[in-house]
Amino acid sequence: MSTASLPGPVMCIVGARPNFMKMAPILRALAAHEPPLPALLVHTGQHYDASMSDKLFTDLRLPRPDLNLEVGSGSHAVQTAEVMKRFEPALDAHRPACVLVVGDVNSTLACALVAVKKGVPVVHVEAGLRSWDRSMPEEINRVLTDQIVGRLYTTERSAADNLVREGIAGERVCFAGNVMIDSLHLHRQHTRAPADTLRAHGADPALLQHPQGYGVVTLHRPSNVDDPQALAALLGVLGEVAARLPLVFALHPRTRQNITRFGLDGLLDTATMAVLPPQGYLEMLGLMAGAAVVLTDSGGLQEETTALGVPCLTLRENTERPITVEQGTNTLVGRDAQAIREGVAAILSGHGKRGRVPELWDGHAAERIAADLFAWLTRGAP
Ligand code: UD1
Repeated sequence: MSTASLPGPVMCIVGARPNFMKMAPILRALAAHEPPLPALLVHTGQHYDASMSDKLFTDLRLPRPDLNLEVGSGSHAVQTAEVMKRFEPALDAHRPACVLVVGDVNSTLACALVAVKKGVPVVHVEAGLRSWDRSMPEEINRVLTDQIVGRLYTTERSAADNLVREGIAGERVCFAGNVMIDSLHLHRQHTRAPADTLRAHGADPALLQHPQGYGVVTLHRPSNVDDPQALAALLGVLGEVAARLPLVFALHPRTRQNITRFGLDGLLDTATMAVLPPQGYLEMLGLMAGAAVVLTDSGGLQEETTALGVPCLTLRENTERPITVEQGTNTLVGRDAQAIREGVAAILSGHGKRGRVPELWDGHAAERIAADLFAWLTRGAP
């Protein structure tokens, strides 16, 4: 055991829902490390609704943030700029040993940029994933964050190849595994029963008793939900699917707002579709674990379904997580109605992908990150 200590805390940044399940195991691993690595949790407030933030903190047993920057919603420019403005004085006040960012949301890039320019070492967990689609805001956040940080932790081997291709030295990259799957391992035994989740929202749990089971749907990507025609077409196909297999649709606030704004509420009015608000972590894991199929445009759900062995149809043209397609249970179907119908039909006839769990998605990624981070910081964060 090393007796060296750090000159300050590891400042851990979360902003939006998908960050929370990544940060929870990291905080635990920093505390469990020998010697313990002090952490300071900063919530930028990018997500602020109880259902998008507080509930996840409770489910994941995350500590209350030490700081909340309360930036809220806004255009990409406004939101990113607001995080930067509010994060700078916090960074000055706390003098951390390093800043740790996860994922690809606006808060990830904003905090990395502020810290790097102040000479504070920054590390990125979930580095190197690429969709090769620069119309996705997350892709811009990924590419830029990876260019400026000092140490990069990856979830799959292809990510290191992507980074090296972008001129990043291979020695700065550490293949640590998938922290999101650490959370899944930790909470798998404590998920909420799907019937209870439906009941809690006034939906009929009998829906889940269909002989072929049920499907779970989430949608929130701008490319799927910000264009009225694209959204109407997708909801139309989901209505068709629901006629064969009951669906549980957990609606993101952005999607909820757009459905109403575009006058599409009628498309959700199907007896075999339970429309729920955004779900907590334990509810969502329970729903997914019991599902016949998950239809989604989320990055996290593609990984969680692969770890759970549940077939996933991804409603996108590309994925930054290719291992879920190559080794896992994921199939890309885009917004192609025929591909979605055929994908569901194949799964219902017993031909869904089974897949296998990728290398180092073993529940111990955060421990590997804590050990590597300590070693890196104590040799001067070169
Ligand atoms: C953000 C992330 C995305 C991630 C997603 C998960 C970026 C660029 N995008 O997208 O990568 O997959 O989170 O949800 O960072 N809203 C609320 N309550 C909230 C938060 C948002 O009502 O707590 C509404 C607001 O009207 C807001 C809209 O949802 O304008 C979108 O929120 P925003 O944070 O801008 O992006 P997401 O679509 O959630």
